[in-house]
Amino acid sequence: MAKEKKFPKHIAMIMDGNGRWATNRGKSRVFGHNAGMKAMKNIVKHCGDIGLEYLTVYAFSTENWKRSQEEVSGIFGLLIKYIDSELASLHKNNVRVNILGDFSIMEDAVKNRLEKTIELTKNNSGLIFNIALNYGSRAEILMAAKSLAFDYKNNLLKGDDINEEEFSKRLFTGILDIPDPDLVIRTSGEIRLSNFLMWQLAYSEMAFTDTLWPDFKPEELDEIIQDYMYRERRFGGRL
Ligand code: FPP
Repeated sequence: MAKEKKFPKHIAMIMDGNGRWATNRGKSRVFGHNAGMKAMKNIVKHCGDIGLEYLTVYAFSTENWKRSQEEVSGIFGLLIKYIDSELASLHKNNVRVNILGDFSIMEDAVKNRLEKTIELTKNNSGLIFNIALNYGSRAEILMAAKSLAFDYKNNLLKGDDINEEEFSKRLFTGILDIPDPDLVIRTSGEIRLSNFLMWQLAYSEMAFTDTLWPDFKPEELDEIIQDYMYRERRFGGRL
């Protein structure tokens, strides 16, 4: 019989299906991302209300640069719109915002807003909302490997000290002290991870729903959490 589990501490989400949602309505992909942004806003609010500690969303991957110029600049335009309209309320709701990924390469209009968001919310103690932007798990894993190699070469670390904990500390999540997700949710019916948190999701529960991201509602999230709480987690061992 399945044992009841605790409420998850950290949920990760792959917000997929904005493009299909828009195509189904004869609209542009950016129209779909705009609807996706609204869905994300509702989910963030809900996660704060239910007392979730960490929410991580995959907003833009290292591979997403391959999309058309129109779509890429549309997504970043929405990010600017999101920050300009939501930052005050995120801060008021005690949300701390982090970015996972290298955003130093982004244009000033984006970079400056992200820096301001991180700075303003850094002491907030409510929901920790991590936005993966220009994020790729393989690049992140390589970054950690290079950092270990550097420290080893410079005698800051002995071979025996290289372990999972040392490695984890050098990932974006480790640098920010974010625990591994308990649960990852992907919308839109695709069953894959797409280079998202591949180290951190090693033991996470996975939930896949056919709902396209713009249609994903807090009620469905609550159902997935309920389902998660009744699943067993063994971490490779036996119960
Ligand atoms: C995946 O759907 C979604 C993205 C690549 C972008 C995610 C963006 C948002 C949810 C809105 C904006 C949020 C911020 C932070 C600006 P897809 O385009 O791959 O959909 P498809 O598979 O149906 O084509």
